[in-house]
Amino acid sequence: MPNGKSGIKLPANIIESMSQPLPQDSIEDQILQSDQLSMEDASFCLRSACIAYEPEIGPHLKNVSNYAAALARKIDLDPHQIDLLWHGAALHDIGKLGIPQELIRKESSLSPDEMQLMQSHTVIGHNILNTGTSEFLKVAAEIALSHHESWDGTGYPNQIKGNAIPLTARIVAIVDVYDALRSKRRYKPAWGKKEALQEMTDLRGQKFDPELLDLFLTDIPA
Ligand SMILES: [Fe+2]
Repeated sequence: MPNGKSGIKLPANIIESMSQPLPQDSIEDQILQSDQLSMEDASFCLRSACIAYEPEIGPHLKNVSNYAAALARKIDLDPHQIDLLWHGAALHDIGKLGIPQELIRKESSLSPDEMQLMQSHTVIGHNILNTGTSEFLKVAAEIALSHHESWDGTGYPNQIKGNAIPLTARIVAIVDVYDALRSKRRYKPAWGKKEALQEMTDLRGQKFDPELLDLFLTDIPA
């Protein structure tokens, strides 16, 4: 039938294109438009993937989200940005999905080559998350890429320093290390609060943004 049900006469090239199967991109676009994934759904699905790969990491991801949001409130970050941070912070180590499990589960110290491979979780995580256009994925991707950068420029993967490191990543850098110190891991026992605080203070201005660290330390989580 050359015309649509409405009776409108369609140009021949349109009629021809309508008879062809839709390109895959068009089908995906239609699905996205009809049932867009919410930030909450996306973040919880991705978080579940991280936990499926490394089951014991669940409480750490939850703590990092909560501590990051608490620190962000102290600097009066916009509530929407805090929401993005809360969801994005939990995905800081999603790049470990690209690291062999035997390396993640290794209890002894890593060789230089193994260390280099492990450190690539930052770039892998960024590549996983930097695939969309949503604000949430952009924030999550910057956290994944830069949460191991150091205030003095000695971190990885890009050795950026100071305020060149995204604020979200500077926040996550602090709370990630604090919670990791306080948690039992395969290769270490949980540190006491006093020891952990001393370690954090020793790294002030070296690894951590000094002003953010001071704020974090003013009302440290139990
Ligand atoms: Fe990490």
